Amino acid sequence: EFIKNLHGLVETEEFIAQSLGLKKVIIVPGNSDKDGTVKKEMGRAAARFIREILFPGAVMAVTGGTTLREVAATMPVGNAPHEITVVPARGGLGEDVEVQANTIAAIIAKKLRGTYRLLHVPDNLKEEAIRLLVTDQHIKELVAEIKSADILVHGIGNARELSESRGDSPEETEELISQGAVGEAFGHYFAADGSIVKNIHSLGIRLRDLRNISTVIAVAGGEKKAAAILSVLKNNHEDVLITDQGAANKITALI
Ligand code: G3H
Repeated sequence: EFIKNLHGLVETEEFIAQSLGLKKVIIVPGNSDKDGTVKKEMGRAAARFIREILFPGAVMAVTGGTTLREVAATMPVGNAPHEITVVPARGGLGEDVEVQANTIAAIIAKKLRGTYRLLHVPDNLKEEAIRLLVTDQHIKELVAEIKSADILVHGIGNARELSESRGDSPEETEELISQGAVGEAFGHYFAADGSIVKNIHSLGIRLRDLRNISTVIAVAGGEKKAAAILSVLKNNHEDVLITDQGAANKITALI
C-alpha cells in the first residue's frame, strides 16, 4: 500500500473503478510492455485476490494467455478452501500448450489442491461442429459446469494481435479492424464503445453467461493494451480489473 500511495496508484484505482462501475481495481507499479517482471507482479496480485475470494465448492473458469500463465505461476500452493474446481473458460487448442486455458486451469487446480476438468476442443469452430460436439454427454455436462462458474478470470488482447495469432488472413484482420474492433476477451471482439464486433465460435463461456457469474475478473496490463482493456470494460460486465500502471495511466487519459 505504501508503494502504491507513493505512485498515486490508490487514487487511480478509485477513479477507474468509479468511472467504469467496477467493484475493485488493483494496479501494480510499472509497465509490463517495458518490464517483464511487471506481468509477474500482476499475476501475483491476481493470485492473491483470487485466494481471498475463493470459497468451498467454488467453480472457477480461466482463459489462456501469457498473463494468465503468470497468475498460475505465482499462485501459492495449498491452504485453499475445499473442493475448488478449475475449468477452462472456453475451448482453445492450437495455441502453445503453456498458454492454453486447459494447462492454466490444471496448474491452478493442483496448486489449490482442487480438481480440474479439461475441454479438448479448438477455438474458432464451425457452428455445425459445435452442434455435433454438444450431442456428446460428457462435453455437454462439462460445458454446463463451465457456464455455471462462480468466478471467471480472463485476459484481454489487442484485437489486431489476437486476429493475427488466430491465423486470420491479412484481409480478415483488416476487415475486423475497419469494423472497429479494438479489444478481445473470451472469444468476443469489442469496439471502443464496448459493443460487440465479432464472436468467435467455440464451446464454453460467452458474454450472455456472465450475468450468472458472480465475479468476473480481467487481468491485463501494458500501455499498448489500454484501449483494448477499456473497450472490454465499457461492455459493463466486469467486476474486477487487475492491471499495471502503464495501462492504468493510459486508461485514465482515455476515459
Ligand atoms: O485473451 C486474451 C489474450 O490472449 C491475452 O493474452 O495475456 O498473452 O497478452 P496475453
